[in-house]
Amino acid sequence: MLKIRNLVANYGHIEALHGISLDVGNKEMVALIGSNGAGKTTLLNSISGHVTKTGEILYNGVDISKMRPGRIVKNGIIQVPEGRHVFPGLTVMQNLVVGTIAWRGLRKADIEEDLERVVTLFPRLKERYKQLAWSLSGGEQQMLAMGRALMGRPKLLMLDEPSMGLAPKVVEEMFEAIVAINNSGTPILLVEQNAQLALEVSAKAYIIEGGKIKLSGPSKELANDERVKEAYLGKTR
Ligand SMILES: Nc1ncnc2c1ncn2[C@@H]1O[C@H](COP(=O)(O)OP(=O)(O)OP(=O)(O)O)[C@@H](O)[C@H]1O
Ligand SMILES: [Mg+2]
Repeated sequence: MLKIRNLVANYGHIEALHGISLDVGNKEMVALIGSNGAGKTTLLNSISGHVTKTGEILYNGVDISKMRPGRIVKNGIIQVPEGRHVFPGLTVMQNLVVGTIAWRGLRKADIEEDLERVVTLFPRLKERYKQLAWSLSGGEQQMLAMGRALMGRPKLLMLDEPSMGLAPKVVEEMFEAIVAINNSGTPILLVEQNAQLALEVSAKAYIIEGGKIKLSGPSKELANDERVKEAYLGKTR
């Protein structure tokens, strides 16, 4: 459903991605692994329309590389940004409803149904419905950012480091939810520095270094690849 060819992304005169090609299939979970500064966020931001670039980004056959971010969201490509960025002064419920903004004209009953689905996936959000987002723990904020994205009814969900800064138990909870979202049919492009975890849950993975794809293939194969083991699986942060 997503087919990227020869993507070159620039920040002013600096080229950050040097000709990336990548595919996400229907219902597939694809992992993008790489160290700090490799270009992972830049790739997601290029897809969502926030970075200047050349090359092709075909989404169900349509080139979206020149589309504006708002239209890309309306087409169902929804990103959960690195560092969450929930609205601190809004309650949990208000943050979630903001996620429906691309769906003007949605009936109240539809919104309530979507809310119910999100809090079933993240019961902790239901317990904190009226709490202001700034006062949530890091894990709860990540759940909220993810819930907000789900309220937008993603056809492709892009997650930027959902495990960042979270305790192992919360990471586990988070990844159970990510797998459940994928199992319900939503394709996911997952950016993760925790390579082991990313390779466990994904079908296919790409390893990015210095703005280029260094390796790619079925996640099971990459998990057993000596180069991957040495560079990415020795330790996770
Ligand atoms: N707004 C920007 N202006 C200029 N250069 C940028 C900008 N954002 C990122 N870069 C540069 O682009 C390169 C890729 O950055 P990017 O944020 O995509 O890396 P990343 O793989 O997401 O890293 P991390 O794991 O630390 O989040 C880096 O060299 C970074 O310094
Ligand atoms: Mg990043």
